[in-house]
Amino acid sequence: MPLVSMRQLLDEAAKGGYGVGAFNVNNMEQIQSIMEAARETKSPAIIQASRGARAYSQDLFLYYLMRAANELYPEIPLVMHLDHGNSFETCKSAIELGFTSVMMDGSLLPDGKTPSTFEQNVDVTRRVVEIAHEKGVTVEGEIGVLGGIEDGHGAGGTGLEHVTDPDQAVEFVEKTGVDALAIAIGTSHGAYKFTSKPDGSVLKMDILIAIHKRLPNVHLVMHGSSSVPKDLQDIINQYGGKLKPTWGVPVEEIQLGIRNGVRKINVDTDSRLAITGAIRKVFAETPEKFDPRDYLKPAREAMKKVVALRMTQFGQAGHAGDYAPISIEEMKKRYAAETLAAK
Ligand code: G3H
Ligand code: 13P
Ligand code: ZN
Repeated sequence: MPLVSMRQLLDEAAKGGYGVGAFNVNNMEQIQSIMEAARETKSPAIIQASRGARAYSQDLFLYYLMRAANELYPEIPLVMHLDHGNSFETCKSAIELGFTSVMMDGSLLPDGKTPSTFEQNVDVTRRVVEIAHEKGVTVEGEIGVLGGIEDGHGAGGTGLEHVTDPDQAVEFVEKTGVDALAIAIGTSHGAYKFTSKPDGSVLKMDILIAIHKRLPNVHLVMHGSSSVPKDLQDIINQYGGKLKPTWGVPVEEIQLGIRNGVRKINVDTDSRLAITGAIRKVFAETPEKFDPRDYLKPAREAMKKVVALRMTQFGQAGHAGDYAPISIEEMKKRYAAETLAAK
C-alpha cells in the first residue's frame, strides 16, 4: 500500500463515524511505536512531523523511515503529515519531499507566535491549497488560535483569547478550499493545559458543536488533545521528575467531539510523557545500565501502549482494512475534476 492522502482517511472516518489520532514523531522509535499500535489495533495511521521534528531528524531520515514503515506494515493505510507548517515555503518543501498531507497554520504569522489577520490566513492557506491539490496532497488549515506557548507554537495566554468564530470558520473554508479545519476551543499544546478537570468554561465544546452545525461535512481537527493522564505524570514524578499537577483534554470530551465532526485528533504530549516515564524508571532502578536499547525498548513499548489505547478510544481500531488506497495520482485527478471541492 503506498502512503495515502489524509483526505481519504478522513473521508472514510466520516463515513464510519470515528476519529483518527495524528501522532507526532521525531525519530525511529516513535514511528515504530505508532506502527506497532496500528498493527495491534488494526488502525489506519496518521504520523505527523513538525518543523522542529524535520530539523531534529533531517527531512531525508524522516522520509525514509516513513517509507520503511509503509513497506513493513503494508496492511496499514498510512499518511505522512506536516504539522503546523508556518509558511508557504515550509509546506511547499514538505510536498516536494513526499508528505501526503500538510497543515498550513496561517492562524499565526511565520514566527509561530503572532496571530495573523483573517485575510493573511486566507491568502497563505489558499495558495498552499492550490499547489497541494495540484499534486493530490491534502491540506489542513487553522482558524482561531491555540493557547500556550510551549513547543514554540501558540500565541500564549489561556487559549480562550482567540477561540474560533463559527461564522469565520464557514467563510474560511469557502475561501480556501481546505480539506480539514483545525479550530481553537480552549486547548493548548504541551502538558499544562488546564489547572483542574476542564469544564465548559475553559474547554469550549459548545463552539465545536456550533461549528459542526454550520459545516456538517467538513473534517474538524482538535489540536492540543493529549489527555495528560495522571498515571503517566505519576511515573515521571515517582522516578525523579518534577511535573506540576495538571490536566489535559479528557477522552470523553474528545469522543463528544468525534460525534460532532472531529475526524483528526493531535496527540504528542501523551507520547512524550510515556517515553520519559519509561526511561526515568530504567535509569532509577538500574543505574548501572548504559546500553540505549535497555531504555529505548521500554520507552517504545510505553508509547505504543498509550497510542494503541487512543486508537481504540477514538474508534479507528478495526478500520485499517475497510478500504483500498486511492493513489496520490488519482487524488490529483479528483481535485482537478473538482469532485473533492470544498463543501
Ligand atoms: O504542535 C506541537 C507538537 O507537539 C510538536 O511540537 O514543535 O516541539 O515538535 P514540536
Ligand atoms: P498535545 O501537546 O496536546 O499533545 O498536542 C499536540 C498537537 O496539537 C500537535 O499539533
Ligand atoms: Zn497542534
